Amino acid sequence: MIVTIDGPAGAGKSSVALKLAENLGFFFLDTGAMYRCVTLACMRAQVDLHDPAATLEIANCCQIDLARGSVALNRLDVTREIRNPAVAKSIKAIAENPEIRELMVQQQRRICTGQDCVTEGRDQGTVAFPNAECKIFLTATAEERARRRYQQLLDAGIDADFDEILIQQNQRDANDSNRLTGPLIAAPDAIVVATDGMSEQQVLDKLLEIVRSRRSGPSSQSVTK
Ligand code: DC
Repeated sequence: MIVTIDGPAGAGKSSVALKLAENLGFFFLDTGAMYRCVTLACMRAQVDLHDPAATLEIANCCQIDLARGSVALNRLDVTREIRNPAVAKSIKAIAENPEIRELMVQQQRRICTGQDCVTEGRDQGTVAFPNAECKIFLTATAEERARRRYQQLLDAGIDADFDEILIQQNQRDANDSNRLTGPLIAAPDAIVVATDGMSEQQVLDKLLEIVRSRRSGPSSQSVTK
Protein backbone atom coordinates (compact mmCIF):
# COMPACT_ATOMS: atom_id res chain seq x y z
CA MET A 1 0.00 0.00 0.00
CA ILE A 2 1.21 3.51 -0.84
CA VAL A 3 0.25 6.37 1.48
CA THR A 4 1.12 9.81 0.10
CA ILE A 5 1.43 12.83 2.37
CA ASP A 6 1.75 16.18 0.65
CA GLY A 7 1.46 19.70 1.95
CA PRO A 8 3.22 23.01 2.49
CA ALA A 9 6.42 23.61 4.47
CA GLY A 10 5.86 23.72 8.21
CA ALA A 11 2.67 21.65 8.24
CA GLY A 12 4.51 19.07 10.37
CA LYS A 13 4.52 16.47 7.58
CA SER A 14 7.98 15.01 8.15
CA SER A 15 7.73 14.04 11.79
CA VAL A 16 4.16 12.81 11.60
CA ALA A 17 4.79 10.92 8.32
CA LEU A 18 7.78 9.16 9.90
CA LYS A 19 5.72 8.22 12.96
CA LEU A 20 2.86 7.04 10.76
CA ALA A 21 5.28 4.83 8.81
CA GLU A 22 6.72 3.42 12.05
CA ASN A 23 3.27 2.70 13.42
CA LEU A 24 2.21 0.92 10.24
CA GLY A 25 5.54 -0.86 9.73
CA PHE A 26 5.88 0.86 6.31
CA PHE A 27 9.02 2.25 4.65
CA PHE A 28 9.26 6.04 5.05
CA LEU A 29 10.29 8.01 1.97
CA ASP A 30 11.29 11.64 2.63
CA THR A 31 11.31 13.06 -0.90
CA GLY A 32 12.35 16.54 0.29
CA ALA A 33 15.61 14.93 1.43
CA MET A 34 16.17 13.81 -2.18
CA TYR A 35 15.88 17.37 -3.54
CA ARG A 36 18.10 18.54 -0.70
CA CYS A 37 20.76 15.94 -1.63
CA VAL A 38 20.82 17.00 -5.28
CA THR A 39 21.06 20.66 -4.24
CA LEU A 40 23.93 19.89 -1.87
CA ALA A 41 25.75 17.90 -4.57
CA CYS A 42 25.38 20.83 -7.03
CA MET A 43 26.62 23.30 -4.42
CA ARG A 44 29.64 21.10 -3.68
CA ALA A 45 30.41 20.79 -7.40
CA GLN A 46 30.04 24.58 -7.67
CA VAL A 47 27.88 24.36 -10.77
CA ASP A 48 25.53 27.17 -11.71
CA LEU A 49 22.25 26.15 -10.06
CA HIS A 50 20.38 27.88 -12.89
CA ASP A 51 22.11 25.78 -15.55
CA PRO A 52 19.57 22.94 -16.03
CA ALA A 53 21.92 20.71 -18.04
CA ALA A 54 24.76 21.02 -15.51
CA THR A 55 22.53 20.35 -12.51
CA LEU A 56 20.87 17.40 -14.28
CA GLU A 57 24.30 15.91 -14.92
CA ILE A 58 25.09 16.15 -11.20
CA ALA A 59 21.66 14.75 -10.30
CA ASN A 60 22.29 11.76 -12.56
CA CYS A 61 25.44 10.97 -10.56
CA CYS A 62 23.80 11.24 -7.14
CA GLN A 63 23.35 7.98 -5.29
CA ILE A 64 20.86 8.79 -2.57
CA ASP A 65 20.20 6.28 0.21
CA LEU A 66 17.38 6.92 2.63
CA ALA A 67 17.56 4.55 5.53
CA ARG A 68 15.54 5.03 8.70
CA GLY A 69 16.48 8.43 10.09
CA SER A 70 19.61 8.95 8.00
CA VAL A 71 20.43 10.21 4.51
CA ALA A 72 23.52 9.22 2.52
CA LEU A 73 24.75 10.94 -0.64
CA ASN A 74 27.21 8.87 -2.65
CA ARG A 75 27.68 6.67 0.43
CA LEU A 76 28.56 9.53 2.79
CA ASP A 77 26.24 10.62 5.57
CA VAL A 78 24.64 14.03 4.89
CA THR A 79 21.72 13.79 7.32
CA ARG A 80 22.58 17.05 9.07
CA GLU A 81 24.19 18.90 6.19
CA ILE A 82 21.11 18.76 3.95
CA ARG A 83 19.16 20.62 6.68
CA ASN A 84 21.56 23.56 6.46
CA PRO A 85 19.62 26.79 5.66
CA ALA A 86 22.06 27.41 2.76
CA VAL A 87 20.76 24.24 1.08
CA ALA A 88 17.13 25.26 1.62
CA LYS A 89 17.85 28.67 0.12
CA SER A 90 19.36 27.15 -3.03
CA ILE A 91 16.80 24.42 -3.64
CA LYS A 92 14.32 26.41 -5.75
CA ALA A 93 16.14 26.11 -9.09
CA ILE A 94 16.70 22.38 -8.54
CA ALA A 95 13.07 21.70 -7.60
CA GLU A 96 11.94 23.65 -10.68
CA ASN A 97 14.03 21.62 -13.11
CA PRO A 98 11.52 19.29 -14.87
CA GLU A 99 14.16 16.74 -15.84
CA ILE A 100 15.50 16.51 -12.29
CA ARG A 101 11.93 16.14 -11.04
CA GLU A 102 11.34 13.32 -13.54
CA LEU A 103 14.52 11.60 -12.34
CA MET A 104 13.45 11.94 -8.70
CA VAL A 105 9.96 10.64 -9.44
CA GLN A 106 11.41 7.58 -11.23
CA GLN A 107 13.62 6.88 -8.21
CA GLN A 108 10.67 7.35 -5.82
CA ARG A 109 8.60 4.84 -7.79
CA ARG A 110 11.50 2.38 -7.86
CA ILE A 111 12.01 2.66 -4.09
CA CYS A 112 8.31 2.07 -3.41
CA THR A 113 7.99 -0.90 -5.77
CA GLY A 114 7.12 -4.06 -3.90
CA GLN A 115 6.91 -2.54 -0.45
CA ASP A 116 4.40 -0.64 1.67
CA CYS A 117 5.42 3.02 1.87
CA VAL A 118 4.51 6.32 3.42
CA THR A 119 5.91 8.87 1.01
CA GLU A 120 6.04 12.54 1.88
CA GLY A 121 6.58 15.62 -0.28
CA ARG A 122 4.70 18.06 -2.49
CA ASP A 123 3.79 16.01 -5.60
CA GLN A 124 3.47 12.50 -4.28
CA GLY A 125 -0.29 12.10 -4.67
CA THR A 126 -0.47 14.09 -7.92
CA VAL A 127 2.60 13.10 -9.97
CA ALA A 128 4.65 10.33 -8.36
CA PHE A 129 1.81 8.05 -7.21
CA PRO A 130 -1.46 9.13 -8.85
CA ASN A 131 -2.88 5.66 -8.14
CA ALA A 132 -1.90 5.55 -4.46
CA GLU A 133 -4.49 3.84 -2.28
CA CYS A 134 -4.40 6.58 0.35
CA LYS A 135 -3.63 10.26 -0.27
CA ILE A 136 -3.43 12.84 2.48
CA PHE A 137 -2.89 16.57 2.12
CA LEU A 138 -1.66 17.95 5.43
CA THR A 139 -1.95 21.66 5.94
CA ALA A 140 -2.41 24.46 8.44
CA THR A 141 -2.77 28.22 8.17
CA ALA A 142 0.41 30.17 7.38
CA GLU A 143 0.32 31.81 10.83
CA GLU A 144 0.00 28.49 12.65
CA ARG A 145 2.87 26.95 10.67
CA ALA A 146 5.10 29.97 11.30
CA ARG A 147 4.15 29.97 15.00
CA ARG A 148 5.19 26.29 15.30
CA ARG A 149 8.52 26.98 13.60
CA TYR A 150 9.08 30.01 15.84
CA GLN A 151 8.39 27.90 18.95
CA GLN A 152 10.71 25.10 17.71
CA LEU A 153 13.55 27.59 17.35
CA LEU A 154 12.89 29.16 20.76
CA ASP A 155 12.78 25.69 22.34
CA ALA A 156 16.16 24.96 20.73
CA GLY A 157 17.54 28.15 22.29
CA ILE A 158 17.77 29.90 18.91
CA ASP A 159 16.80 33.56 18.67
CA ALA A 160 13.99 33.96 16.12
CA ASP A 161 11.86 36.65 14.54
CA PHE A 162 8.26 35.55 13.91
CA ASP A 163 7.62 38.05 11.10
CA GLU A 164 10.80 36.99 9.29
CA ILE A 165 9.80 33.31 9.56
CA LEU A 166 6.37 34.11 8.15
CA ILE A 167 7.82 36.08 5.22
CA GLN A 168 10.27 33.28 4.32
CA GLN A 169 7.56 30.65 4.64
CA ASN A 170 5.21 32.62 2.36
CA GLN A 171 8.05 32.80 -0.17
CA ARG A 172 8.56 29.01 0.00
CA ASP A 173 4.80 28.43 -0.35
CA ALA A 174 4.76 30.66 -3.44
CA ASN A 175 7.77 28.84 -4.94
CA ASP A 176 6.20 25.44 -4.30
CA SER A 177 2.74 26.40 -5.54
CA ASN A 178 3.77 28.32 -8.67
CA ARG A 179 6.20 25.70 -10.02
CA LEU A 180 5.15 24.51 -13.48
CA THR A 181 6.21 20.89 -12.88
CA GLY A 182 5.01 19.05 -9.78
CA PRO A 183 3.54 22.08 -7.99
CA LEU A 184 2.25 21.87 -4.45
CA ILE A 185 -1.42 21.02 -4.90
CA ALA A 186 -3.82 18.58 -3.29
CA ALA A 187 -4.78 15.66 -5.52
CA PRO A 188 -8.53 15.73 -6.23
CA ASP A 189 -8.90 12.44 -4.33
CA ALA A 190 -6.71 13.48 -1.37
CA ILE A 191 -8.14 13.78 2.12
CA VAL A 192 -7.32 17.26 3.39
CA VAL A 193 -6.33 17.41 7.05
CA ALA A 194 -6.01 20.91 8.50
CA THR A 195 -3.92 20.60 11.66
CA ASP A 196 -4.52 24.00 13.29
CA GLY A 197 -4.92 23.54 17.02
CA MET A 198 -4.08 19.82 16.89
CA SER A 199 -1.19 18.21 18.77
CA GLU A 200 1.18 15.94 16.85
CA GLN A 201 -0.40 12.92 18.57
CA GLN A 202 -3.87 14.03 17.49
CA VAL A 203 -2.66 14.41 13.89
CA LEU A 204 -1.03 10.98 14.00
CA ASP A 205 -4.22 9.41 15.39
CA LYS A 206 -6.24 11.06 12.62
CA LEU A 207 -3.87 9.78 9.91
CA LEU A 208 -3.87 6.26 11.36
CA GLU A 209 -7.68 6.34 11.33
CA ILE A 210 -7.68 7.45 7.68
CA VAL A 211 -5.19 4.78 6.57
CA ARG A 212 -7.08 2.06 8.44
CA SER A 213 -10.36 3.11 6.86
CA ARG A 214 -8.70 3.01 3.43
CA ARG A 215 -7.30 -0.43 4.10
CA SER A 216 -10.74 -1.75 4.91
CA GLY A 217 -12.25 -0.14 1.78
CA PRO A 218 -11.89 3.22 0.02
CA SER A 219 -14.39 6.00 0.62
CA SER A 220 -14.31 9.57 -0.57
CA GLN A 221 -14.30 12.07 2.28
CA SER A 222 -12.88 15.40 3.20
CA VAL A 223 -11.68 15.98 6.74
CA THR A 224 -11.02 19.50 7.86
CA LYS A 225 -9.99 18.82 11.44
O1 DC B 1 10.07 18.92 2.67
P1 DC B 1 11.40 19.68 2.62
O2 DC B 1 11.35 21.04 3.27
O3 DC B 1 12.56 18.87 3.09
O4 DC B 1 11.63 19.96 1.06
C1 DC B 1 12.75 20.64 0.60
C2 DC B 1 12.42 21.32 -0.70
O5 DC B 1 12.22 20.37 -1.74
C3 DC B 1 11.20 22.22 -0.68
O6 DC B 1 11.61 23.52 -1.06
C4 DC B 1 10.27 21.70 -1.71
C5 DC B 1 11.08 20.68 -2.49
N1 DC B 1 10.34 19.46 -2.70
C6 DC B 1 9.75 19.29 -3.92
O7 DC B 1 9.83 20.17 -4.77
N2 DC B 1 9.08 18.13 -4.19
C7 DC B 1 8.98 17.17 -3.27
N3 DC B 1 8.34 16.03 -3.56
C8 DC B 1 9.57 17.34 -2.00
C9 DC B 1 10.23 18.51 -1.74
